[in-house]
Amino acid sequence: MTALAENTGQTLVDGMGRTIVNLRISVTDRCNFRCTYCMPADNVEFMPREKLLSFEEITRIARIGAGMGIKRLRLTGGEPLMRKDLPTLISMLAKLDGIEDIAMTTNAFFLKEHAKTLKEAGLKRLNISLDALDPEKFRDVNRRDCLKEVLEGMRVSAEVGFKSIKVNAVAMKNFSETEILGLIEMGRSEGFEIRFIEFMPLDSDRNWERDKVLFGHEILDLIREKHDLVPVENSLEIGPASEYDFADGKGRVGIITAVSNPFCDHCNRIRMTANGKLRTCLFSTDETDLKELIRGNASDEDIVKAIKDAVLIKEPGHKINLDDFEQPQRAMHAIGG
Ligand code: 5AD
Ligand code: SF4
Repeated sequence: MTALAENTGQTLVDGMGRTIVNLRISVTDRCNFRCTYCMPADNVEFMPREKLLSFEEITRIARIGAGMGIKRLRLTGGEPLMRKDLPTLISMLAKLDGIEDIAMTTNAFFLKEHAKTLKEAGLKRLNISLDALDPEKFRDVNRRDCLKEVLEGMRVSAEVGFKSIKVNAVAMKNFSETEILGLIEMGRSEGFEIRFIEFMPLDSDRNWERDKVLFGHEILDLIREKHDLVPVENSLEIGPASEYDFADGKGRVGIITAVSNPFCDHCNRIRMTANGKLRTCLFSTDETDLKELIRGNASDEDIVKAIKDAVLIKEPGHKINLDDFEQPQRAMHAIGG
């Protein structure tokens, strides 16, 4: 083992003074769903398999990251469970010194089958994507008729012991309004935190328009018609969501105002795509090719330097609200949520 395998107490700080502790690792760009806000309906061009980082390559980068101050990992996709033997990767990552938390964002379709093995491998937390409880609306937005499987996957995950499951619902105008209160009721009765995420311009179809976003304040107005909410102090310093407790003490809801009031000032994450490109922002237009380094026999020190250099120029924030905004080439499924 090299010195970098140990938790060296190092910190990874960007040019704006933000300390980076989260690494989001996309393990595949493939998905069994075709959500309108993410993928095209058909003819998706996926990354060739030989271009995907192997589990060993991913683990090496995570180990080096951990030596630099990364503490939390999140596996993303596409749909991460489209990648074969994912529990094997999780158990490799769980052994790394300095990694305190491993989470995964998933559409839940395969959880019925895999939740237990994932838990045993060392996965700690789950975020589940679910935008609608109405089966027709589910089918319209996810372009698959799979609500039943998703709900079953969630139920099994809770049963095998996953605690604090969070649900991501993308908030879209003329779509989400009818779903919000139902999702909240489900969250409150099952113990899931529902988080509404403003629809961001990361869809392959490039259909995003500001008018199609259901904004955080509109979501809050809808919730407040039925529930009193108490803001959770400093929640934006901990994660991307402004969180609110229900005044009756039963549960919590999160609003991610990714468009109207982004949390960029507090952003502590970097991302790696399934083909080994390091991105310092969801909306990066530049990437650092870690795969090329690894496959070109780079030393750990070379990789440390590449990560440090990329982080130093991490974008201060996204430019969705500015005139010179450019939608990244990659859609959400090829970046990793
Ligand atoms: N805008 C907002 N959230 C999105 N997600 C995917 N695409 C978008 C988008 N265009 C979210 C989904 C999923 C996670 C991977 O990212 O809710 O849970
Ligand atoms: Fe698949 Fe997630 Fe994209 Fe939906 S948002 S198509 S579930 S990767």
